[in-house]
Amino acid sequence: MQICTTISEMRTVSGATRSTGKSAGLVPTMGALHEGHLSLVRAARAKCDVLVVSIFVNPTQFGPNEDLTKYPRPFTRDCELLRNEKVDFVFAPTVEEMYPPGAATFVNVQNLSDRLCGKSRPGHFRGVTTVVSKLFNIVSPDVAFFGQKDAAQVAVIRAMVRDLNFPVEIVAGPIVREPDGLAMSSRNAYLTPQQRNQALVLSRTLSRVRELYDLGERDSEHLIGAGKRTFEREPAARLDYLEIVHLDTLAPLEDSKSGALVAIAGVLGTTRLIDNIVLP
Ligand code: PAJ
Repeated sequence: MQICTTISEMRTVSGATRSTGKSAGLVPTMGALHEGHLSLVRAARAKCDVLVVSIFVNPTQFGPNEDLTKYPRPFTRDCELLRNEKVDFVFAPTVEEMYPPGAATFVNVQNLSDRLCGKSRPGHFRGVTTVVSKLFNIVSPDVAFFGQKDAAQVAVIRAMVRDLNFPVEIVAGPIVREPDGLAMSSRNAYLTPQQRNQALVLSRTLSRVRELYDLGERDSEHLIGAGKRTFEREPAARLDYLEIVHLDTLAPLEDSKSGALVAIAGVLGTTRLIDNIVLP
């Protein structure tokens, strides 16, 4: 496994892959890898000849009071995990390499970027689409893999690929959960044992919505109301949003139907967590 830290090094590798006609896969990450990331790496390994995983804690997608400086960076351990998965290249640039002084161009998907997490994290998706378009330009993947855990991110990136004609296929992988239902996240490491337990309120709330949907309830307002009541039974947690939206447009749906996205964000202490389900 080769670790590339400069854009020119990475471009040389991408160029060589192209010239031999091999397919290239990219899994973009911010590191602190867990089984959720590794499930994407495995899907990519199975589908592509040459596999690149990027590790870059992207400052432009963090708000001024967010966890950019404390975000975990266990780089050596991450590389070991990726070596075990037979990854070919890790792209791990520095912030200066990706954003040299004077960098002033951003990619923004209008409207979609203001929904769900974009509402409470202004500028977040602009940072994501900017860095992902840079990664696409540097790595030139045929296929890129993203987790459905960040369902809004998938919708925003699909829209960006469509609108800017990136020749990249987007594959979304299912959410990987802990045995008790908590969606895996690098941010789970911030939780105290007590908060770790309280964090189950997110998946419990989604289960409640799903349960009523299975019983035939289709009115989104009723479903969200019932979900909120479940959430409120955990007083340590603060609800950021619970919404039922269209999977691609992220627009709220009055009537819940098959394929709708039920998305939740909640805060425990200072840790913000997200989760979602797609209605069957
Ligand atoms: P990060 O949070 O490191 O996640 C990298 C990828 O892993 C994302 O596509 C995310 O959806 C996926 N992922 C995280 N937890 C998962 C889980 N429990 N199950 C399945 N997939 C999971 O998302 C980002 O980084 C950044 O925004 C990035 C796209 C790298 C741009 O900076």
